Amino acid sequence: EKMWLHIDGAYGGGFTILPEYEWIAEGWSEADSIIINPHKTLFVPLDFSVLYVRDIERLRRVFSLVPEYLRGDTLETERNYMDYGIQLGRRFRALKAWMIWRAFGREGVLGLMREHLRLARLFGEWVSASDDFELSAPISMGVVCFRAKDKIDAFNSRIVESINRSGRAYLNQTKLRGQTVIRLGLGNILTTEKHLREAWELIQETARSLA
Ligand SMILES: Cc1ncc(COP(=O)(O)O)c(C=O)c1O
Repeated sequence: EKMWLHIDGAYGGGFTILPEYEWIAEGWSEADSIIINPHKTLFVPLDFSVLYVRDIERLRRVFSLVPEYLRGDTLETERNYMDYGIQLGRRFRALKAWMIWRAFGREGVLGLMREHLRLARLFGEWVSASDDFELSAPISMGVVCFRAKDKIDAFNSRIVESINRSGRAYLNQTKLRGQTVIRLGLGNILTTEKHLREAWELIQETARSLA
């Protein structure tokens, strides 16, 4: 009961705006703090993170430190963000988020997210249908984890490194259950099915050329 429950929804938290992903937020009402990075899934360019804190006064008690020369800047009646974190000077990050969400609207943002989810699943179908690759995890959001079938970890790493060196696509890699897997992430506002198809062709070509 005395534990601080923090929910790190940096990547996944943004999906909760889709009605079909509301399940992600189950239990969030118990949290003391929640973080979401709209620069990951809600189309805001780096950087823009949102922190929700149940008891915001606790942050103020920890961080508020007002030197003499700033006394005039801290009116009791207004929320001054320098009292809630380490940073004093900060950029007006909220403006770009406001612009983007106003420009696309809620429906526009939902539509783009659903398109990325469609592309992630489509990519998953291509991988599953291929003789040379396999999915390494179910696809739940916009990241697809897969690997070259029956190949050692180093071979999968070489695929990623070679593609990234080419500058034509950018992939990364991680370990899942002790095995190296390739990660493809969807989330850029400009990504279309054409780009995805080109990336898939590049991945297959690269694997063939390295075999
Ligand atoms: C689950 C998770 N937590 C935290 C972070 C870090 O977020 P930030 O870059 O805002 O520190 C990331 C990604 O960068 C992430 O995916």
